Amino acid sequence: MDNSKIKRYTVTAALPYTNGPVHIGHLAGVYIPADIYARYLRSNKRDVKFVCGSDENGVPITLKAKREGVSPQEIVDKYHKIIGDSFKEFGVSFDIYHRTSSLTHHHTASDFFETLYKKGVFEEEVTEQYYDESAKQFLADRYITGTCPKCGNENAYGDQCENCGSTLNATDLINPKSTLSGDQPILKETKNWFLPLDKYEDRLRAYIESHKEWRPNVYGQCQSWLNAGLQPRAMTRDLDWGIRVPVRGAEGKVLYVWFDAPIGYISATKELCDYAKLDVWNPKAEEYYISNVETDKCGWEEYWKDEDTKLVHFIGKDNIVFHCIIFPAMLMAHGDYILADNVPANEFLNLEGQKISTSKNWAVWLNEYLREFEGKQDVLRYVLTATAPETKDNDFTWKDFQARNNNELVAILGNFVNRVVVLTHKYFNGAVPTVMEILPEDQAVIDDLATYPAKISASIENYRFREALSEVMNVARLGNKYLAETEPWKVIKTDEDRVRTILNIALQIAANIQILIEPFLPFTAEKLMKMLRNGGHTWEDAGSVNLLKRGHEIGEGELLFDKIEDAAIDFQIEKLNQSKANNSAANVEAIPAKENIQFDDFTAMDIRVATIVAAEKVEKTKKLLKLTVNTGIDERTVVSGIAEHYKPEDIIGTQVSIIVNLAPREIKGILSQGMILMAENSEGKLTFVAPTQKFEEGSVIR
Ligand code: 2FM
Ligand code: ZN
Repeated sequence: MDNSKIKRYTVTAALPYTNGPVHIGHLAGVYIPADIYARYLRSNKRDVKFVCGSDENGVPITLKAKREGVSPQEIVDKYHKIIGDSFKEFGVSFDIYHRTSSLTHHHTASDFFETLYKKGVFEEEVTEQYYDESAKQFLADRYITGTCPKCGNENAYGDQCENCGSTLNATDLINPKSTLSGDQPILKETKNWFLPLDKYEDRLRAYIESHKEWRPNVYGQCQSWLNAGLQPRAMTRDLDWGIRVPVRGAEGKVLYVWFDAPIGYISATKELCDYAKLDVWNPKAEEYYISNVETDKCGWEEYWKDEDTKLVHFIGKDNIVFHCIIFPAMLMAHGDYILADNVPANEFLNLEGQKISTSKNWAVWLNEYLREFEGKQDVLRYVLTATAPETKDNDFTWKDFQARNNNELVAILGNFVNRVVVLTHKYFNGAVPTVMEILPEDQAVIDDLATYPAKISASIENYRFREALSEVMNVARLGNKYLAETEPWKVIKTDEDRVRTILNIALQIAANIQILIEPFLPFTAEKLMKMLRNGGHTWEDAGSVNLLKRGHEIGEGELLFDKIEDAAIDFQIEKLNQSKANNSAANVEAIPAKENIQFDDFTAMDIRVATIVAAEKVEKTKKLLKLTVNTGIDERTVVSGIAEHYKPEDIIGTQVSIIVNLAPREIKGILSQGMILMAENSEGKLTFVAPTQKFEEGSVIR
């Protein structure tokens, strides 16, 4: 979109499912880049609404509720608060953090559906869907698991295989199973309302192809969907949690969560612009957070319908089809709406070399991070931006987190600012000194500094946030290099005027960093603002060496960052190791049960308590011991394969269980009369099965 035509921006960040806290994957993929972009626009005095909220409908919520044995409402209330609070504390500058269980959203989504319905957009179709007869309900895709037809993964979901990434239909699964009852579901007829995506294919193709500037991963995924041919997709579901379908004959059905969720962006804007202005809050309003409301100038429709509004969706790569195909088709069908100008979707972030997994607790949770690294929001913001998975999957490691804090934030940025502030206090009592004479080396630095804002802007406006941040760090590097080369701490002994010039320029560099770093590290920018007593500047002032006027008194110095010690990192790594241990304990596969036997089959076995009275190795074997046991009935010989687990001398006097009526067998020339019972674990370790206290030989085990 031609920049000169843009009057305002609507920036959306994917609505997180309210079934758990957010983790670093969400932050790196969506919320940090979106926040950088929104903050940058505000610093450029552009009119921007940055909206988000909780995605509270749909199956992920009902599944979680079922697992925890509480109502879906309790789940969404709990996580809406956890997520909203941690976003706020993390400095994500949403203008509103809304929620899709709100009345505003229910009305907005319902009206949207009704408009499409009245326009005759939907195709009504009776199809066969999986139904769980014992639970008496239709099964949403996520309630069905089975074997993936593409890769053989036995735990694929009805809509997706997480192993190979294929998008599936529930009916594609081999051996489908209901997660509600564990039974095989049956197919049963039900009516649903379908959005005929095929009818929008040409317009969607034209739309996508007019955006060749989109990231290759996004553009490529859209192309492959279009090339595969679009199919009608049901926009209603047989489910009892969500937004009622506002049509007669649709009782017991709700809107498909991917129909209502993106409309959540619209309802959030409505709530922000119009209802907040009128002070018409719905009862859940106290939990919203709304900041930066300039409601007088704002009507929600401008942000969604005016051609001079630029709409940008920040999402993760698993959301591409919904934002680039389905939502645009809905907006086209409705008519009045603009379409996204860009959909910068990130790839995935891994953690210590493994895919982040909520169920395996293989994640760094934002709420826990905020508790464990108090006041270090910007460290995480920095690391996740510097390693953002913009073009390919990337890996977060705690060692790298520590190294980037200690070697980059502390050593480069913190060090530069600290030196300038300390020296200004030391030599000039904290007053910005006057520029005396500008030497060529000063001019070179001034010229270099002036090039950064445009470079950083270009990177941000093209959604290359990693690159943008590394350029901001280059400004700090420039400052460090300048100080190292001019050595004011030496020159002060001979030429105070020279030091005036040097420190003035160095202070201007620090003031520039304050502006340029704000979108990325807002807490650091705030500290810098206090330290330099430098407020009121916006992006367009950056590049100047006249931000701090001569004689202006700066504030006290304070360390911007401090070193992160090994102990803090070891603690985090230990936490992950704990998750790993828990997972592998949970993953030990017990040998499946044998087929049922009858009670009589069991009682046919005569099992007794016995005591080992003698033991020796069976010659020329590794595994066998020859035991003499007192069974209470007699003393007899048994050959047992336990030589790798017990030494003969250690087991004399040990009590065991023995099947005394097993037909005798000859083993290595010895007649073995019976069998000692052993327990064997998954690693093949053996141990005797015996009474827990000394028992009379011959006692019956049953
Ligand atoms: O993938 C998710 O977490 C979804 N809850 C994202 C929804 S984005 C939007 F459309 F609201
Ligand atoms: Zn698969």
